[in-house]
This record gives sequence, structure tokens and C-alpha cells, in this order.
Amino acid sequence: MSEYCIELNNVTKTFGKFTAVDNVNIKLEPGKVYGFVGPNGAGKSTTMAIIMGTLFPTKGNGKVFGHPLASPEALKVLGYSPEFTSFYSDMNCIEYLYYMATLAGLSSDEAIKRTNELLDQFDLKQHANRRVAKFSTGMKKKVSLAQAMIHRPKVLLLDEPTANLDPTSRQEILDTVRKMVEEEHLTVLISSHVLTELETIINHVIMIDHGHIILDAPIHEAQEKFKQGILMVDTSNNDQLLSELNGRYEYTLEEGNIRFATVEMEQLKKDIVSIVFNSQLTLNMLKEEVLSLDSLYKQIMEGEKSDEGNIQKNA
Ligand SMILES: Nc1ncnc2c1ncn2[C@@H]1O[C@H](COP(=O)(O)OP(=O)(O)O)[C@@H](O)[C@H]1O
Ligand SMILES: [Mg+2]
Repeated sequence: MSEYCIELNNVTKTFGKFTAVDNVNIKLEPGKVYGFVGPNGAGKSTTMAIIMGTLFPTKGNGKVFGHPLASPEALKVLGYSPEFTSFYSDMNCIEYLYYMATLAGLSSDEAIKRTNELLDQFDLKQHANRRVAKFSTGMKKKVSLAQAMIHRPKVLLLDEPTANLDPTSRQEILDTVRKMVEEEHLTVLISSHVLTELETIINHVIMIDHGHIILDAPIHEAQEKFKQGILMVDTSNNDQLLSELNGRYEYTLEEGNIRFATVEMEQLKKDIVSIVFNSQLTLNMLKEEVLSLDSLYKQIMEGEKSDEGNIQKNA
């Protein structure tokens, strides 16, 4: 048995001349929640389809608990909620889940039992007899999550489960995922192009852009590593402050304020306070910005663009 639930080794996927996924290496450990983040077109859905065995890699290979991609053993332990859900127009919620359960190989009795469990677990009982095709986007996503869990998978792949949802439904979906992770010993790969919302539920972040993995790190490490402090400063004489700092810190000017970016935050603050004191300036503002996952992401993306070819990897 492999120590990883999912492993992709040098996986590349091309569509004609276009490379959608470029030499990707991913290793997912059991019991963790992975955020798979990147802008639209980055290669998230393609990567997930490769793990699911619905697309074959052009190069490279992968394993699911040591079994080859697309093997029956692999498919058995994978649950998948696709980016775009489509439902048979005439099926109500019970019929749909029952149908999916039988497709997953459950006997008729087991399928009925499992359908009831899931209706309960996902709080769908009161909508059980309504047609799924008529559900709101948020409810459809929930049914899609329930469907992904139907055969009690060990690994869940959720492709943009919160896309196009209002904030309340988005929170509800994330709470549902959190609850599933706590109750079952699940490994989750959850993709999104909105990062901040994942911050509270993921242990690990994998960032992808133009088919390349540009970051693969525990969430706290990622946040720490790129914690280049940002300090917004305004004084009665910013020119004087800057001239006395003598080019020791990088800065930009934003609407008359100075925006410092530094890894030496403590020293910068001491220097500013001392200059303000000695030169009798007035300190109007001194504000440190907290780095969110979104700003981390922007920082890496901007770094990538200004530094083509030199990709930050496994930072
Ligand atoms: N079947 C396909 N044929 C051609 N190009 C594709 C196909 N599937 C995806 N792509 C392209 O591959 C890139 C990655 O797509 P995708 O994996 O869907 O990105 P993401 O899910 O990160 O938004 C995109 O530029 C997309 O247009
Ligand atoms: Mg996608």
C-alpha cells in the first residue's frame, strides 16, 4: 500500500498543440484537505479529470492508493463532484441519488439505505421529492456532494464546489465539506479560483497556473514564507522620511502614503519611529497589512510574470 492516496508523476496533458497540464507532480497524504487553486484555465479541472481516469495523461502516470489511474480499484475509492452538474430533468432527489448509488454498484437495498442516509446527512429530506433539475445552484451543488459520497469514497475531488454561489450557500457548502471531513476520515482535493474562502478549511495549498504547479506547501508555511510584511505609512513629511531611510527599504507610493514591502518589519518600524521622533515629524498612519491567501496568491502570480521561466516550486 502506498503512503499517498494520490500521486501524479510528471503528468502532462496536451490538447493538440496546447499544453493544459505541464509536468505536474502531486502527492496527497491521507486525511488532509488540499486547496487546489489557480485562475480560470490554469488546469485544475483537467488535472482532476486525469485523477478520475476520465482523461488520460499525454505523458506521465499516477496512482491512487498505489493502484494505476482509471483502474477499478482506483475508481472505487474516489468520489467526484464535477465543476458543472447536469441532472436528468425528470428525476427527483431520491430517484437521482438512488440511480447514482446503483451506478456505483450498490444493490437495490443498499442503494435505498444509502440514499436515505445521504438525504439526512446533507439536510435534503424536505426536498427529497422535488426535481433536482429545478433546484437552486446551491442545492444542486449539495446534491452533487451527496452523490460524490455515495459509495463511501476515501478521497473526494471537489471541482469548484462554491463557484457561482451566493455567500450564504457558499458557506453552507464549505460547512458541509468541513463536517464530512470531520466525520469520515477523508482526503479532499478542493479546487477554487477564490482563495480566501478555502483558507479556513484547508491544511495544504497547491497552486497551479498555466498548467504548472507554482506552490505546494502546508497552508501555514505558505502564509509564513511569503509573509513579506506590508506597512502603510503616512507622516507630515514623507519625502524627509524616505530620504532619511536612505533607500534601505523598498516602497511604492499610494495616494500620498508610503507602502513599504519588507521582510525586516521590526527594524523598519524602529527606524520609522526613530526618524519621526528625531525629526519631529507627525505620524499620521502606521498600518501593517495581514497577508491573506488572496494576496499571497497575487504575490506569487506577479512574481511569476516578472520572472518568466524561473518558477517558484515547492516553496
Ligand atoms: N477538451 C479540451 N480541448 C481543448 N482544450 C481544453 C480542453 N479541456 C481543457 N482545455 C483547455 O485547457 C486549459 C485548462 O483547462 P481547465 O483544466 O478546465 O482549467 P481550470 O479548471 O483551471 O479552469 C484551458 O485553457 C482550457 O481551455
Ligand atoms: Mg475548472
